[in-house]
Amino acid sequence: MSDARVHERAPAVRRVPLVMLVASAVIACSACGASAGRRATPPATPARACARPDPSDCSLRQLATDHGVMIGAAVQPEYLSGSPDYARIVGDEFNSITPESAFKWESTEPARGRFTWGAADAVAQFARAHHQQIRGHTLVWANSTSAKQFTILPDYVAAAPDAASMQGLIDEHITAVVTRYAKVTDRWDVVNEPLETTGSQLDTNVLTRILGEKWMVRAFRLTHRLDPTAKLFVNESLAEGPGPKHQALMALVQRLRAAGAPIDGVGLQAHFLGGAPDRPGLEVVLRDWQSVGLRTAITELDIPTPNHDPVAQATRYADVVRACLDVRTCNEVTLWGVTDAHTWLNDFLGPGTAPLLFDDSYQPKPAYRAVAATIAASHR
Ligand code: G3I
Repeated sequence: MSDARVHERAPAVRRVPLVMLVASAVIACSACGASAGRRATPPATPARACARPDPSDCSLRQLATDHGVMIGAAVQPEYLSGSPDYARIVGDEFNSITPESAFKWESTEPARGRFTWGAADAVAQFARAHHQQIRGHTLVWANSTSAKQFTILPDYVAAAPDAASMQGLIDEHITAVVTRYAKVTDRWDVVNEPLETTGSQLDTNVLTRILGEKWMVRAFRLTHRLDPTAKLFVNESLAEGPGPKHQALMALVQRLRAAGAPIDGVGLQAHFLGGAPDRPGLEVVLRDWQSVGLRTAITELDIPTPNHDPVAQATRYADVVRACLDVRTCNEVTLWGVTDAHTWLNDFLGPGTAPLLFDDSYQPKPAYRAVAATIAASHR
């Protein structure tokens, strides 16, 4: 099944205590051109991307394409251009890429009307050159953080003189980004982390404080108008298991839909920083979303290697991928990074977490082989 058809077929388709991790986890064409218009249509790929008898000879991308699923990675443009090994892995192993930070508001419009497209264009250029679709992460992320580690929402937005001006800034920003990248993006994280990180209430960020939930409805409606064929997601952390935050997220999404937000799916970030994923619990969550007609995606998967045991890590990765692939409407697994050398956790938790599929030397780890085997064995 060609990469392009994967999207069509897609059915509606821790050392530091977890609480501390979570509390501070609140984080932070030129070829694409600036015109909207027909979506890039990657050239057809062979009907069967990997005809080898032994699936272990196939890349993740080939296996994913054969099984009609998206396998993605968060990417940083400086390494796409600066590291041949990084670029090779991203191009060979993934049929989807997520700009780790390049599409974010502070990266694309650090000052009102002053757009800095360089990093985002570099990611878009790579995606077009490698016939990949982009997961547009993220149009609006406004989390309030006490220990703010990142500039998540540029200060000029919070400084808007009144509600109408603030709403205007959101509309302008979404319009600029979506218009520029609609052709190479088929999924948008329209709203990232609308709930408080460790609780289950709405995050008290400045947008929600001033505008109420309706800014989110408007963000989805505007994005849909600008890019009608893209799938639109709410993306959230720590909602990968049954519990108050999952219930709160379900309630929020239903409210937004009732108010007219065209939401197609929910992204579950899956930063399993505090221990082993709960596979049964994840399946319950995925089926809950399926029951209300929403697709799901694992959008930011990373799992620190427990006790320096890469085989134990591999088992955990297999559990997460299996949970997704066992639920028809979960159609994507995106890793939050390519190699242990460049994981955000090196800054966030310090060296040595080794949370990804490729090690510091860009070599595949047991977790890579476990993910490949799980995809190969799926009945998709
Ligand atoms: O690009 C600038 C560079 O020019 C500057 O010199 C440098 C020092 O200030 O900053 C660089 O930008 C950094 C950016 O990552 C790119 O490396 C930002 O400061 C830094 O805040 C940003 O951190 C990212 C964070 O989101 C905030 O945007 C992390 O890499 C990224 O992994 C993290 O990802 C988030 C998801 O978007 C949402 N879910 C949680 C996840 C983990 O926090």
